[in-house]
Amino acid sequence: MAEEIEPCTYVIFGATGNLSKLKLMPALYHLEVGNRLPADTVILASGRREWTREHWIGEVRKMIEAKARGGIDEKVFETFSSKLQYIQGDLHDPKAYEALNDRIMSESDYPKNIAFYLSIKPGDFGAVVENLSNATLFDEAHGWRRAIIEKPFGYDLESAQALQKRLHRFLSEDQVYRIDHYLGKGTVQNVLVLRFANVLMEPLWNRNYIDHIQITHSEDLGVGSRGYYYDGAGALRDMIQSHLLQLMALVAMEPPVSMDAESLRDEKVKVLKSIRTIPQSAVHAHAFRAQYRSGIVNGEKVNGYLEEGDIPQDSVTETYAAIKLFVDNWRWRGVPFYLRTGKRLKKGQSAVSICFKRPPQQLFKNTKIDQISPNWVLMGIQPEECMRMEVTVKEPGLTMKTRTTSMDASFRQEDEQSTDAYEDLLLDVIEGDRSLFLRYDEVSYAWKVVDPILKVWAMERDFINSYPAGSWGPEEARRMFAKEGQNWRHSLDIEDGTDG
Ligand SMILES: NC(=O)c1ccc[n+]([C@@H]2O[C@H](COP(=O)([O-])OP(=O)(O)OC[C@H]3O[C@@H](n4cnc5c(N)ncnc54)[C@H](OP(=O)(O)O)[C@@H]3O)[C@@H](O)[C@H]2O)c1
Repeated sequence: MAEEIEPCTYVIFGATGNLSKLKLMPALYHLEVGNRLPADTVILASGRREWTREHWIGEVRKMIEAKARGGIDEKVFETFSSKLQYIQGDLHDPKAYEALNDRIMSESDYPKNIAFYLSIKPGDFGAVVENLSNATLFDEAHGWRRAIIEKPFGYDLESAQALQKRLHRFLSEDQVYRIDHYLGKGTVQNVLVLRFANVLMEPLWNRNYIDHIQITHSEDLGVGSRGYYYDGAGALRDMIQSHLLQLMALVAMEPPVSMDAESLRDEKVKVLKSIRTIPQSAVHAHAFRAQYRSGIVNGEKVNGYLEEGDIPQDSVTETYAAIKLFVDNWRWRGVPFYLRTGKRLKKGQSAVSICFKRPPQQLFKNTKIDQISPNWVLMGIQPEECMRMEVTVKEPGLTMKTRTTSMDASFRQEDEQSTDAYEDLLLDVIEGDRSLFLRYDEVSYAWKVVDPILKVWAMERDFINSYPAGSWGPEEARRMFAKEGQNWRHSLDIEDGTDG
């Protein structure tokens, strides 16, 4: 496989940072383990420290030691390290880009296809792209040139538009790879497979059969050392605007004409465009925010948000956000989508929970069966990767009683290894496959969805609800439910399923 792909020079800006340490370097190493990197690939780290190549290889080794599945394979690491290079330079120094250009263009063993990974502060995206362009590094005369932009793409609609305008001056849309690592997760892609590779679901996948849909990303961790970044962002921007709206688009979209990048993204955009705008006057009915206070998580006492490092005492940044959305199209009109995320909740997990309507006729009303539970289709994204369907069956015995049972269509067999989303995505960049990257219109429509909420919350600086760390979030968030009987679904198991 590796032979078929053209090699490239992978330039990593911010290679000494957290993302590179936790994700990028381990992912590139695992691609080497799987023999997916073309032999002549060069991975060129750009950093401001005066390091030699040997020193850098030692640093990379430490990064990989901490993450390698099954430990480092010395032989593979030797091949991998032969691809590693280091160049010193400051992001804000135009000369650094000239030096970078000289290095790549003058040395014959550096492939002239170049992918630039911007693993740096979002505030620097625009300046780095401009500097790269000024140093003719986006000139495609000698090979393709691609830029991978990390999230967040903008802070709100206006800043996303401004960033896009700036990038667009130097790059064409098909050179830009806006990353949302959620889309690299196998189980997220499995949403498409489940829907479009099976005939079973599609006839039921609409307003006639589905009561409501919940998309949840909960974390048991707090803000940790990211307090400064997080306090400027909050849960709505950090998770809902990006990952959860993307998941919603995959769940709700129409079948694409084909699986190519543009067809897929066209359909996702149609969903985002059809989401009913929340007027500022209706924000309270559609959105709820809160902040964690101290509590017990996994048996340990933990601080509240305001006691965390780098958090101002008067912060009203939300660590929990829940929103209710409606998609105004033929398929979904009237079906609420509840998107919810929070830190320091009882359990860390991501899941899509689809609640079907109850049967139209209560045929069993004169039996011991009180009320038939609705069917649920549950898709676990992390940590459990699974697809379950809950159905009602008769309890064995002489009495007519029922119980719910769960049918499991596991995404992964026990002996099948999981890969990290970044492995998929880093490979897609080399292969030029943009289907799992965000097109600008997706990003901008997603900002349009959350913008009215952000505006109202930005004005309400006096008060924010709170919830104890280790709980499932604020009780009051339940007021968003559109009707009786709708409750948060917390678990993929039958017991302990909902709040109700
Ligand atoms: N960390 C995550 O899990 C995560 C998740 C999703 C998205 N992201 C996004 O990924 C990007 C990187 O995040 P991160 O957590 O890795 O940030 P980080 O740990 O703060 O790393 C920033 C990197 O930028 C380098 N840098 C800063 N100023 C520089 C300058 N003037 N010249 C040269 N290099 C400079 C730093 O070099 P030094 O080492 O020399 O300081 C460091 O390598 C951000 O856009 C973030 O939003 C991160």
